[in-house]
Amino acid sequence: MTDTPEIAAELRRLLAHAHAPYSGVHVAAAVEDADGRVHYGVNVENAAYPLGQCAEASAIGAAVTGGAKGLARVHVTSSLPGLVWPCGGCRQKIFELAGPGCEVVSVGADGATDSRTIEALLPLGFRLEPGASRQVG
Ligand code: THU
Repeated sequence: MTDTPEIAAELRRLLAHAHAPYSGVHVAAAVEDADGRVHYGVNVENAAYPLGQCAEASAIGAAVTGGAKGLARVHVTSSLPGLVWPCGGCRQKIFELAGPGCEVVSVGADGATDSRTIEALLPLGFRLEPGASRQVG
């Protein structure tokens, strides 16, 4: 796994790439896949507001495009003070592809971090086949 401080530094740098002219809130996310590769994304807003895409969704898209076979860890940071956590929709997107014990790490502007498992953030998340194990790839 890549060190959290290294990923955190890259996330803080990438906040400048967010396209967020409507909310003014810049968000950056990183997805570490099962092979230890790290994929990044930022939020991309749109003048047709509901079309905006969260940073986590951008990072997950990059991970899947890169051939990721499951998410080991997700990091998120934003331009807001304090720690932010993925919205409900992004929790479900993470849940779908999460490997066993997948953690979400929130990174603050000051470098402070906190983490939770995806199961803690989204208890009883939706699966088409609730009894089945994850299907990735
Ligand atoms: N946003 C994310 O990128 N991730 C989240 O988990 C929650 C919110 C973005 C969406 C929007 O562009 C901005 O933050 C303000 O809501």
